[in-house]
Amino acid sequence: MARVAIVTGGTRGIGAAISCGLKEQGIVVAANYAGNEAKAAEFSDRTGIPSYRWDVGDHEASLAGCAQVVADIGPVDIIVNNAGITRDGTLHKMTFEDWNEVMRINLGGCFNMAKATFPGMRDRGWGRIVNIGSINGQAGQYGQVNYAAAKSGIHGFTKALAQEGAKFGVTVNAIAPGYIDTDMVAAVPPPVLEKIVAKIPVGRLGHAEEIARAVVFLASEDAGFITGSTMSINGGQHMY
Ligand code: CAA
Repeated sequence: MARVAIVTGGTRGIGAAISCGLKEQGIVVAANYAGNEAKAAEFSDRTGIPSYRWDVGDHEASLAGCAQVVADIGPVDIIVNNAGITRDGTLHKMTFEDWNEVMRINLGGCFNMAKATFPGMRDRGWGRIVNIGSINGQAGQYGQVNYAAAKSGIHGFTKALAQEGAKFGVTVNAIAPGYIDTDMVAAVPPPVLEKIVAKIPVGRLGHAEEIARAVVFLASEDAGFITGSTMSINGGQHMY
């Protein structure tokens, strides 16, 4: 029987590439999104992948959203925690809300999604959780104490849950993308982005599909002996 996957933030950017990459492998995918109805509808029409709206930072909404996917499609075997936001600013300008929203969605979302799906994976003896961290969670980044802390938290979350899942056939891994040519990176002021790209040894931004291919591998049968690991995909910008 085909595996079932949920990709959070799965209708745009890196998430959309992941949703499509998993579908190409015969996996039945549900793409979660937070608010951009028009993009989600366009994505679903174009790809045939159904989209489901809920805020991954909302615990109850995540439980209800995952239950809906189970009712519509079947038990969830694969989770890709990709949903994330930025609220960049130096600490002296960052508000508590900027801090809290990034922690709630980027890190809290991983907890909420795991709470909803990990027990079932454990009971059935097979599961794959792939968390999208960031180079900025590994190395830090000026103007991102919130985002760097949340992404760094994702790397710790991954290693802890990997230990809990291992004997039940549930692997938990992270990918740490560098700067990828998505809307999120396009929002970085051009002069700042130019300086960042100048420090990428490969000499360019990454492409969403370059992240998606690694997620597809980590979600596959072949990756059963890989757990608790972080794969850095950043054009050599940070060798970790
Ligand atoms: N290191 C040291 N100093 C820096 C710096 C850095 N990396 N970046 C900026 N500064 C300095 C500037 O030179 C400037 O100093 P002077 O006033 O002495 O010239 C001072 O800090 C203020 O810089 P800005 O004018 O940029 O300040 P700002 O308040 O307008 O903006 C900022 C600050 C919002 C943080 C802006 O610099 C910014 O957007 N930076 C990019 C942050 C970033 O990389 N975000 C990644 C988003 S994509 C993502 O997160 C995906 C992923 O996972 C990789």
